[in-house]
Amino acid sequence: MTASPASNPAYGALTTQGNSTNIVWHHSTVSREARAHQRGHRSAILWFTGLSGAGKSTLANAVNSALFEQGLACYVLDGDNIRHGLCNDLGFSDADREENIRRIGEVAKLFLDAGVVVLTAFVSPFKADRDKVRALVPDGDFIEIFCDAGLAVCEERDTKGLYAKARAGEIKEFTGISSPYEAPETPELRVETGAQSLENCVSAVLALLEGRGVIPQTN
Ligand code: ADX
Repeated sequence: MTASPASNPAYGALTTQGNSTNIVWHHSTVSREARAHQRGHRSAILWFTGLSGAGKSTLANAVNSALFEQGLACYVLDGDNIRHGLCNDLGFSDADREENIRRIGEVAKLFLDAGVVVLTAFVSPFKADRDKVRALVPDGDFIEIFCDAGLAVCEERDTKGLYAKARAGEIKEFTGISSPYEAPETPELRVETGAQSLENCVSAVLALLEGRGVIPQTN
């Protein structure tokens, strides 16, 4: 016999979410707190934002490696990589970028619940979309890190050759050229990825995580 929502304490109320009708939340038997206790560190979402070529993925991966070396549970969700699969139905219109960030926010929230320090590296150009992700999780769990390398630096680097293509009109709606980037006004951390060394940027992120009690103090 199937238990009804009313009689099963693991179930929440019957609800509708978007187009999903008659669904119930099934409470996990392993809490986030229990995971944190077992692992010896909290989870958090480190949300790296900035122009294409600003160094988000490089920094996120370097921080990820440092956390991994310390034996901590961590994972990078990278914009280009996620667009190879989960989000390969999306383009770069404002609406598609909004949906991209919505999905990643939901995925990051799952990682948070799984006790993992999740590092996301998406251009995420719109403040409203980033703020929606912030609002999805408890206060303090969303840590916005602005990879602040100016357009001139990113265009000069042009690591993927995309700025040249965008200037030539071969890529439409390219962030910084023909689509806006709304810089965070009050990020938890701003790193000058165009001027500071990678090592300094990594240290700044780790210090922030230690200061907030997400990861253990190293010294
Ligand atoms: S976001 O705006 O929706 O957050 P996302 O981080 O997933 O973007 O993907 C950005 C990456 O896609 C860039 O680093 C670049 O390699 C590639 N890209 C291709 N077209 C564009 C475009 N029009 N604007 C920005 N990035 C683009």
